[in-house]
Amino acid sequence: MPPRVTAHDNDDAAGSSELMERIVSLCKRRGFVFPSAEIYGGFRSTYDYGPLGVLMLRNVKNAWWRSMVQMHDNIVGLDAAILSSPRIWETSGHLAGFTDPLVDCRNCGERWRADQIEGTCPKCGSGDLTDARDFNLMFKTHAGPVEDEGAVAYLRPETAQGMFVNFLNVVQTTRKRPPFGIAQVGKSFRNEITPGNFVFRTREFEQMEMEYFVPPPDAATWFDRWVAERHRWYVDLGIPEAMLRLRPHDAEELSHYSVATTDIEFAFPWGWGELEGIANRTDFDLSAHAAATGERLEYFDQATGERYVPYVIEPAAGATRSMMAFLIAAYTEDVVDGEARVVLRLHPRIAPVHVAVLPLSRRDELKEVSGEVLSALQPSYQCDLDVTQSIGRRYRRQDEIGTPLCVTVDFDTLDDRAVTVRDRDTTAQVRVPIDGLADEIRSRLGF
Ligand code: GAP
Repeated sequence: MPPRVTAHDNDDAAGSSELMERIVSLCKRRGFVFPSAEIYGGFRSTYDYGPLGVLMLRNVKNAWWRSMVQMHDNIVGLDAAILSSPRIWETSGHLAGFTDPLVDCRNCGERWRADQIEGTCPKCGSGDLTDARDFNLMFKTHAGPVEDEGAVAYLRPETAQGMFVNFLNVVQTTRKRPPFGIAQVGKSFRNEITPGNFVFRTREFEQMEMEYFVPPPDAATWFDRWVAERHRWYVDLGIPEAMLRLRPHDAEELSHYSVATTDIEFAFPWGWGELEGIANRTDFDLSAHAAATGERLEYFDQATGERYVPYVIEPAAGATRSMMAFLIAAYTEDVVDGEARVVLRLHPRIAPVHVAVLPLSRRDELKEVSGEVLSALQPSYQCDLDVTQSIGRRYRRQDEIGTPLCVTVDFDTLDDRAVTVRDRDTTAQVRVPIDGLADEIRSRLGF
């Protein structure tokens, strides 16, 4: 039996890299995450989300959207274009300042982020490095057929700006008044110098960001509330509190637009890493876009006759990065009935498959009743019908991908119209009439 590894007991370096290897291998083997363009030898730390990964990533984004938009009557959604006017990036400060310091090793030619190495090349050990120079992280392209300066466009490096430039559109169409928020989920692109640690840092990734517009005097209070609320989101979705910490930035670390930022960090196998940053962006963005365009990006309070530029509190999370944290926190190996198993103890809301339906044999009678069970559950739940190999093997396979519940259809089902429901975490089994199955599943999954 392999040594047992969980995300909770990996304080030594060998254990943590072994844990990562097992998770990366599980992701590949079971169809969560594939290296992109693998048949061409891969492509520069890009990844594709496979049949299970796409379900899980969607669940993470849906859980965020539900907690932000559905559960707050003063937060609305937006889906802005990835390509937009380059003037946005001039105004936001990204053209001038969204840079990392880059050094080259003169010995082996490798490039590094100057702030991530200590004077010697991590690849060849040489101390012969160039001086650091600023490298802009935005991907540059051309919109339209002419590749001249006038056609330059950038892939967005954050979703946030789309929300600032639509501030007036949203206020006018929704009649929201501060405090109110605009939420957006989507791809962002950064030409990272050193991508790595699987999907932790990639050049193409997904963000989940919300801009919360508040009266300036209330900004500090809202900042504290959003830090607490966002921390609770990860805990509610199953990340143990011991694997999370809050880290306020000190003054030198703050972005140019922020007067206060706190990161929510996760205990990755290699150390603490950021999952999300909550920032007080003040009126920096609205005022800058107003100055650049001449538009009045303000709120006019008709009741008081007051006109002001709201402050913005921004919880900015990574969808792909948090999916990875959820996988790491959930990964467990234990022993059931003397047999080792891998279990992803994922929260039911983010598990890729909610219910697996397992007919004991391929016989037609069981196929028919399994179809009936599926029709009852599929409108509400992501189901998987698995008919191959022994039932024990099938339970192991479902445990390994984090399926919270298995429903087994056996020959007794033909007589008693009941099925066996098996719980992933306890492995306990109960017999449930098909008529009451949907209610039973709902009460166990909690939705
Ligand atoms: N609008 C503010 C903003 O973009 P950020 O801290 O640069 O803030 C927010 O990004 C989140 O996006 C990070 O906490 C992280 O989860 C995710 N993220 C940033 N860069 C990433 C990358 N290269 N790969 C994966 N996720 C990334």
